[in-house]
Amino acid sequence: MAIERTLSILKPDALEKGVIGKIISRFEEAGLTPIAIRLQHLSQREAEGFYAVHKERPFFKDLVSFMISGPVVVMCLEGENAVLKNRDLMGATDPKKAAAGTIRADFAKSIDANTVHGSDSLENAKNEVAYFFRSTELFPYTHKK
Ligand code: CMP
Repeated sequence: MAIERTLSILKPDALEKGVIGKIISRFEEAGLTPIAIRLQHLSQREAEGFYAVHKERPFFKDLVSFMISGPVVVMCLEGENAVLKNRDLMGATDPKKAAAGTIRADFAKSIDANTVHGSDSLENAKNEVAYFFRSTELFPYTHKK
């Protein structure tokens, strides 16, 4: 299986609940290593730019205002099959539909405050990682390329 990189965001509700350590442990235990990690309070412009693909969707405004309601943790995760593995660990976007034992089933309270974001394809992962991190900010200490 290929070593991939993906973007993970721990959303403001994760920080508010004090569960970022628990969530990062789940990634590490599954073989996903944070090779870049930063606590950041997104500006409106940064959040709108990140979610630009959703700008015509009815939930866009609420999504952006939630994402700027408090700090987030942005991370680049690296590991085997990282894109899909991260999505499996997160569970469905709507926590009511998320499988038992997934991050969203365990911590999220609504589709907006759904605790984590993860890239949905390898191509988007490349763009999303580059949106937040320069290549010199990535430290692949486990899977050296
Ligand atoms: P995320 O993975 O960060 O990507 C887009 C976000 O929009 C999603 O998680 C949800 O938090 C939010 N969202 C709100 N309503 C919807 C919806 N109906 N479908 C998809 N995403 C939604």
